Amino acid sequence: MLKIGILNGPNLNTLGKRDQHIYGSLTLNEINQKICEFVEKEKIELIFVQSNSEGEIIDTIQKWSSLIDGMVINPAAYSHYSHAIADALRDFSKPVIEVHLSNIFSRDEFRQKSVTAPVCNGQITGLGYYGYILAIDGLNTLIGQTNKDQ
Ligand code: DQA
Repeated sequence: MLKIGILNGPNLNTLGKRDQHIYGSLTLNEINQKICEFVEKEKIELIFVQSNSEGEIIDTIQKWSSLIDGMVINPAAYSHYSHAIADALRDFSKPVIEVHLSNIFSRDEFRQKSVTAPVCNGQITGLGYYGYILAIDGLNTLIGQTNKDQ
């Protein structure tokens, strides 16, 4: 059974209320529910964490290093400036995919740069909650390849 962690950063706990025209009307719980429905038939166990605090996000990445097989992360605004989270991701030895609900490249200039994406295997941006599902699918393939190479 593969273990995949879904780590969501600051203000994503207010989805459903926050900037609906940008992030849609689903709450984080509803998004997590849709993700669970997608993996129902797969041999994947999901662990969900949301935190508004940079330190807690780093603690989670460090803890998950020895616990899970891959991670989907939406570092939210931290993507744009947290070198501390980027360092933690650099030390995380398993595949990681960064997801953004909105298309960060079509938004404010400061959002168009991610300091965390370069240390991830890939990034999916602008596809709403479906980005998380594609990321899990991608991780499944990446983890399969890693296991074959060993
Ligand atoms: C976000 C994009 C970030 O710029 C923003 O700060 C967020 C959400 C997204 O999922 O589109 O909080 O990561």
